[in-house]
Amino acid sequence: MLKDTALTMETDMRYVINANKLLVGALALGFPFEMARAGESSDVVTPQAIPDTSANVVQPKKRVQGGVTSNDLVFSAYTSDNSIVFPQILKLWVPDGSVIADVTYGKGVFWRNVDTSKYTFLPSDLKTGVDARHLPYKSDYLDAAVLDPPYMEGLYRFKNDALAGAGTHEAFRDYYSNSQTTDDKELKYHDKVLDMYLSIGLEVRRCMKDGAIFIVKCQDEVSANRQKLTHVEIIYAYEKMGFYCEDLFVVVRNNKPSVSRIKKQVHARKNHSYFLVFRLCKAKDKKLPYSNFGSLLDAYSTR
Ligand SMILES: C[S@@+](CC[C@H](N)C(=O)[O-])C[C@H]1O[C@@H](n2cnc3c(N)ncnc32)[C@H](O)[C@@H]1O
Repeated sequence: MLKDTALTMETDMRYVINANKLLVGALALGFPFEMARAGESSDVVTPQAIPDTSANVVQPKKRVQGGVTSNDLVFSAYTSDNSIVFPQILKLWVPDGSVIADVTYGKGVFWRNVDTSKYTFLPSDLKTGVDARHLPYKSDYLDAAVLDPPYMEGLYRFKNDALAGAGTHEAFRDYYSNSQTTDDKELKYHDKVLDMYLSIGLEVRRCMKDGAIFIVKCQDEVSANRQKLTHVEIIYAYEKMGFYCEDLFVVVRNNKPSVSRIKKQVHARKNHSYFLVFRLCKAKDKKLPYSNFGSLLDAYSTR
């Protein structure tokens, strides 16, 4: 009985002490006394018993948000063309003064609206004698690089008359490829496209500084009746090489593409392409500090 009473008293005392602490805490947070006491039984604690700490109460400072409201932003999707979107990407990701190489410069459409004098600008292309798989730069040199190789398997065919863009579409072929047939018979169809992205990716990685930015243009394709989500394949494969995909831009064509000799449409006709923005992480174990996409996927693939 005595023990029980002692226990009750002890419990009551704890309650008083805890209630006191709560109330003091609530007051310290700036709650009015009435609110701080709400839900508390009045015989446990009285206002007189509460030390007046109101003078000590530090009022929480009003948080003032910085910045301005604006819709003058770089967006993730544009119905436009590359020469309009590309400068937006540079603005967001490549600081002035950077050493930047475009390793598939082509006709320089990307750069039409860019003041290249703001950078140390290094354009090159197979057409001008530089194969992007063997770049003339020393290791750890570039702050940024740009890649836009032919993205359609049709531009990597063995025979000239099988190349996409033959005949009336020669201008197209001229723009998108180096118009050369390929001698690599090991790989076929879409694998050739991927192989080009990956082999150039490795060489670009060698030339890049740790933390450098890699802007990659690509488009998905249906190849041999199979859906090939090139942008997903590239993101996954590059991550294995140590590139983290920082940003993704969708460019939707202004005009409607057509298809010749169509019997029945099977897949949606692609009218969009991507700019992917990667950041290189050169850590030896190639584990990216900010992404676990690859390892998570590996873990699930074994379940
Ligand atoms: C889609 S076009 C690039 C267009 C370019 N971004 C522009 O704004 O004009 C593809 C280019 O990749 C080039 N190319 C193809 N294979 C290459 C390689 N192994 N190394 C360097 N350039 C290559 C072609 O000559 C072609 O100019």
